Amino acid sequence: MKILHVVGARPNFMKVAPVHRALSRHSQVQQIVVHTGQHYDVNMSDVFFQQLGLGTPDYNLQVGSGSHARQTAEIMSRFEPLLLELAPDLVLVYGDVNSTVAAALVCSKLHVRIGHVEAGLRSFDRSMPEEINRLLTDQLADLLFTPSEDGNRNLGREGVSATKIHLVGNVMIDTLVQMLPTVERQQIPDVPQRFALVTLHRPSNVDDPAWLDEMLKSLQTIGEDLAVVFPVHPRTREQIARLGHNGSGIRGLTLLDPLPYLTFLALQRRATVVITDSGGIQEETTYLGTPCLTVRENTERPITVELGTNTLVGRDTGRLLKEMDAILQGRWRKGAIPPLWDGKAAERIATIILEYSSNKNRKAACLQT
Ligand code: UD1
Repeated sequence: MKILHVVGARPNFMKVAPVHRALSRHSQVQQIVVHTGQHYDVNMSDVFFQQLGLGTPDYNLQVGSGSHARQTAEIMSRFEPLLLELAPDLVLVYGDVNSTVAAALVCSKLHVRIGHVEAGLRSFDRSMPEEINRLLTDQLADLLFTPSEDGNRNLGREGVSATKIHLVGNVMIDTLVQMLPTVERQQIPDVPQRFALVTLHRPSNVDDPAWLDEMLKSLQTIGEDLAVVFPVHPRTREQIARLGHNGSGIRGLTLLDPLPYLTFLALQRRATVVITDSGGIQEETTYLGTPCLTVRENTERPITVELGTNTLVGRDTGRLLKEMDAILQGRWRKGAIPPLWDGKAAERIATIILEYSSNKNRKAACLQT
């Protein structure tokens, strides 16, 4: 059985790693990794492949940045000939980035089976590009692997057949669980005993200069009580520069380049609080038991709010500062780890794929006789 994994952006890499490892235990499976090149900086991409033990991708389509239409179209036109040449039995796509939907569209037109890892998540906010990517990919996929029950409910509501949906747990947590012993030994940059760890990159937060400026001022206010460590995504760095901060940094904030996976996990584990708009970080903080304030009006990962340590503060700096005060006074929900976030999601995926493939072969054999 030939399986192609398509990945493209930073949050995909920690999801493919455990699935690749679980499938590599089955000698009948041949695996090929295609990197679309959506993320291309060393510290947004290469360093993740190294730390996750993924080696070098078999193919890199080198699409780079661009508008959504251009980037998606470029991935599709470069991926199509490769898919025709490699003729896999199944293509696995991950998460909700442009590379995910682009690869799924190409596969569906060429009648190649698709498995979507991290299916069913919904923010119900169609102004987010990721929500469009999720909705479309899930309509196209043949196998949908969900991380939590809410994913199954969302897919059921959208008319996806229950036979295609498999609740497997969270593959990102698989990687976290596997890496934790290394993370605990990890040397981390010179940070104080107590600190707030910040990441912001969503267009809704960083592309609006007035709001970004207000956020940065609130972070400076937080910085009066607690050190603020802020690894800055390239998109955000560009927008911060437009506000006139240039290379001189921002008083009271420690701005860093994007960090390697292990260093970032070590910081999340040690942080007093994490302030973010990322999807995956809401999940990692829930697993690690670190309080998380999410600067978004909604989340596609509601289980982190219902069960975990996550609080949505919306686009409201007053609420952010109020929740910060509560955390500094020790008042925050300690949370619990959601069911099936146990480090074994990828093994479940591998088992389901092998069963699916043998059922398909059996059916094909029946039709021939
Ligand atoms: C993408 C994903 C988002 C994910 C995020 C994680 C989509 C629609 N969005 O957003 O879901 O949370 O990745 O990082 O797929 N850039 C670089 N170097 C890089 C990559 C990007 O400089 O290696 C810069 C470019 O200027 C680019 C900008 O960052 O224009 C945005 O990159 P892009 O991949 O389009 O989207 P992200 O904002 O990273």
